[in-house]
Amino acid sequence: MSLDNRADNRPIGVFDSGIGGITVLRELVKAFPNENYIYLGDTARLPYGSKSPETVRKYSVQNMKYLVSRDVKAIVVACNTASTQVTESMFEGRPVYNVITPGADLAVKKTENKRIAVLGTRATIRAGSYTKKIKELMPEAQVFAQACPLFVPLAEEAWYEDPVTNIIAFRYLQNLKKAEVDTVVLGCTHYPLLKASIRKVFGNYVHLIDSGEAISQELAADFDRDHVKMATNVDKSYLVVALTDHSEQFENLSNELLCTVMTGQIDFETVSVI
Ligand code: DGL
Repeated sequence: MSLDNRADNRPIGVFDSGIGGITVLRELVKAFPNENYIYLGDTARLPYGSKSPETVRKYSVQNMKYLVSRDVKAIVVACNTASTQVTESMFEGRPVYNVITPGADLAVKKTENKRIAVLGTRATIRAGSYTKKIKELMPEAQVFAQACPLFVPLAEEAWYEDPVTNIIAFRYLQNLKKAEVDTVVLGCTHYPLLKASIRKVFGNYVHLIDSGEAISQELAADFDRDHVKMATNVDKSYLVVALTDHSEQFENLSNELLCTVMTGQIDFETVSVI
């Protein structure tokens, strides 16, 4: 804990199964450049989207316990699949931010025709959390949900702008395009990496809702309310990327995705969360 009562320089803990959560981390670093971060990528057990709710819950609790053991001051569940199973707002004394509520909030704020698409992993779509939340906030909204399981391996493979990705995006999304949605929730943190292909299907005028942007707004509000204390006097903020299985591909991709926003040091570690 920081000695200064007004500051808390402990890191913010962020976790996902793989590279997707880096899209959330990128937004957090942009919004709060003075914070320190520890990113846990559960690469050994990726993907979460094809697992049962019980397994996803078990992995998420293990991940959160691990982050607590690294003395984080807050936990960001940078994974929609995990967010469907992490319902608590506090975990072992730390505030927990899941991506579903802020994503649904932002979608409802953006839509004009009240026709909203939700894309996600099979597990996220099966859980129905976005549809429920959007309907709570806007009962008259029409929600169209679509699982896009092949998007996660395409993102992990860094096929961000690739003819194969374009074809798969078209196949998953053509019916939603016909449904004339004006807002599309990217309900998996891997999907912002495939924005170019998703935009090709929907065109330039749909609102794409990104978990990272949504959760940054929620965290900013909590910093303002002093629910979480900001880090101050951090000369150079640091980021630790802890992976449950070593992956050179992951290191290269995350360096590439973060190099424009992260000025401080990035250290990679291989860890066990069990
Ligand atoms: N990035 C995760 C999500 O937001 C899931 C990817 C996976 O492991 O299936 O749902």
